[in-house]
Amino acid sequence: MNRFAHITGWGTSVPANVMTNADMANIIDTTDEWIRSRTGIAQRHIAEAGQSSASLGAEAALKALKVANKGPHDIDLIIVATSSPEHIFPSTASLVQDRIGATHAGAFDLSAACTGFIIAINMAAQAIRTGSIDTALVIGTETLSRLVDWEDRATCILFGDGAGAFVLQASQESGGVLSAVMRSDGSGGDLLSIPAGGSKLPTSAKTVQDRQHFIQMNGREVFRFATRVMAQATEDVVHKANFALSDINWVVPHQANLRIIETAAKRLKLPLERFVINLERYGNTSTASIPLATVEAVTDGRIQPGDRVVFVGFGAGLTWGAVAVQWTGPLPLDKPKVWPYRLHGLYRIYIKLRSWGLKVSRLIEGVVWGRRRS
Ligand code: COA
Repeated sequence: MNRFAHITGWGTSVPANVMTNADMANIIDTTDEWIRSRTGIAQRHIAEAGQSSASLGAEAALKALKVANKGPHDIDLIIVATSSPEHIFPSTASLVQDRIGATHAGAFDLSAACTGFIIAINMAAQAIRTGSIDTALVIGTETLSRLVDWEDRATCILFGDGAGAFVLQASQESGGVLSAVMRSDGSGGDLLSIPAGGSKLPTSAKTVQDRQHFIQMNGREVFRFATRVMAQATEDVVHKANFALSDINWVVPHQANLRIIETAAKRLKLPLERFVINLERYGNTSTASIPLATVEAVTDGRIQPGDRVVFVGFGAGLTWGAVAVQWTGPLPLDKPKVWPYRLHGLYRIYIKLRSWGLKVSRLIEGVVWGRRRS
């Protein structure tokens, strides 16, 4: 029996706090004109003190589940693609699992920088097709504002915060995720990196003083690489899915830079109107950029069920990739189901209490075990 992986739910979460190019010009030596003409970005959202990659990711996830008419307990697997995880470990995915009360889910983070969301979709789709799982939550979430060097005008203007999530579900109906392309070239690892804070260069007073725990980038090299791989990955993924470039209804590219997207469109000989672009309002939100753009296009009716959509991205690593899908939307329900999580406030209290309950029971267990040993 054939199994297909369909995208059946989607949601986003973006901090309310907006930083315009004019605001940026108040803290670094730049202008609105320079940023717009080089990147196409006009503003970005910046996380507030209480917000984090896990909190934004959890909000987006709950919205996606609501669209799919699924509850957190229905999820078998959570993959969080992120370039700004809360910690090296535990994974941000486990923190999201606890925040949304996904009691039956495995969870892990996927590190492939801005290409992460594409690879996560492919991993979830593979697990669904093999019959290993039925329902997956794929999240791209970022608080990159915590990792940019606010004294480096060439990088801090580019990035923004936000999260997006998809629910993927198994179905015997054909469609959903059709093909994928995943590539990497680690010889370009130094072109875009956070040099310190890992095992190679652990955080020290010197690394902090040298600002090595912030994003460092060779903008020109990354630009050249990106324009080359975007078109190639799109061609490859379309070929794998057995349709033609002209059959694509929508391309949702990684939202890094308008000029990169324009160059890719030209190389592919596709009109720019067929690209979903919203980077003007969000900047580069890394793994969150593709779901943020997709959800906008689905919500305003551009992307319709049955449409052929290509997600294509690139990023640090270097990494790049693409996924071709036939857009689905929520699957018909076997039986009518009232989404209990509409009682949002109460559900939130319940999952917080559940999390605290687990902590307390571990504490009690520890005391009991401690006494037994002594
Ligand atoms: N405001 C004003 N001037 C700036 C500036 C800013 N925010 N940032 C850099 N400049 C200056 C530089 O200092 C340099 O000045 P100089 O000629 O006097 O030395 C000049 O602008 C040109 O710098 P350069 O780095 O060559 O600019 P660029 O045309 O390559 O544009 C980027 C810079 C970052 C916009 C561009 O390289 C880019 O978008 N690269 C891709 C980055 C990307 O997408 N990364 C994420 C991948 S997931």
